[in-house]
Amino acid sequence: MAAATDHQPLLNVANLQVRYGSIMAVKDISFCVTAGELVCLIGANGAGKTSTLKALARMIPAGGEIHYAGQRIDGLPAYALISQGLALVPEGRGVFSRLTVAENLAMGAYHRHRPDERAAVQEDEARMYVLFPRLAERRRQLAGTLSGGEQQMLAIGRALMGKPQLLLLDEPSMGLAPLLVQTVFDAIRSVAQSGVTILLVEQNARLALTVCSRGYVMESGAITLTDSAENLLADPRVRAAYLGE
Ligand SMILES: Nc1ncnc2c1ncn2[C@@H]1O[C@H](COP(=O)(O)OP(=O)(O)OP(=O)(O)O)[C@@H](O)[C@H]1O
Ligand SMILES: [Mg+2]
Repeated sequence: MAAATDHQPLLNVANLQVRYGSIMAVKDISFCVTAGELVCLIGANGAGKTSTLKALARMIPAGGEIHYAGQRIDGLPAYALISQGLALVPEGRGVFSRLTVAENLAMGAYHRHRPDERAAVQEDEARMYVLFPRLAERRRQLAGTLSGGEQQMLAIGRALMGKPQLLLLDEPSMGLAPLLVQTVFDAIRSVAQSGVTILLVEQNARLALTVCSRGYVMESGAITLTDSAENLLADPRVRAAYLGE
């Protein structure tokens, strides 16, 4: 994998388009994420946020160009991106409900199967239990019996087990009680501080803008605003449309 240089964004998206039949869900959007950044994409229901993330992870067909870590990836299959360090934690989590917490974490590291990687994978599993102590207490529990918030932690933990360079998070706060939202967002902050680049999709704009340094606002498939989180929080249009003011 080619390393991203200081001059080049880790992720560079140009004229991304997603269409479902006659519906244009994502209309020619362009944006970038620099290595080490925590950036959010906010917008209302149906704005096209999930479609954008799925297109980046190559899970749905899309037009436009996607460059990641110095290479063009819009021709690559989804599975190839995981070993390149690009991981998506999908909306609705998608943990393996009939596997235990520990087994789900192991699945996240399935491509790290060389014998000399075993110790590092074990260390990473231990690190996940430090990041999410609730998972440590439940490591033998079936994932399907975890609460929604615990499943969200597990989904993030499983993605981290793949040692991503870029983590795409789709609505990590969805359906969570405030206390668990806090736990999950504390973890996101700490993952970002450990050097993982994050593109965070959130409907909860206030929350997203308090953890991110920069944001993009998406409306009806287009990016309509982009600025520092600080400026977006103060922007009257953002306040009226997304912060309930
Ligand atoms: N598989 C699909 N087939 C047809 N239309 C779809 C499909 N998936 C999404 N859409 C439509 O594309 C548009 C964008 O949807 P998307 O899920 O990307 O929005 P979103 O911003 O993630 O919304 P939310 O905040 O509700 O998750 C919506 O109008 C949606 O109905
Ligand atoms: Mg969505």
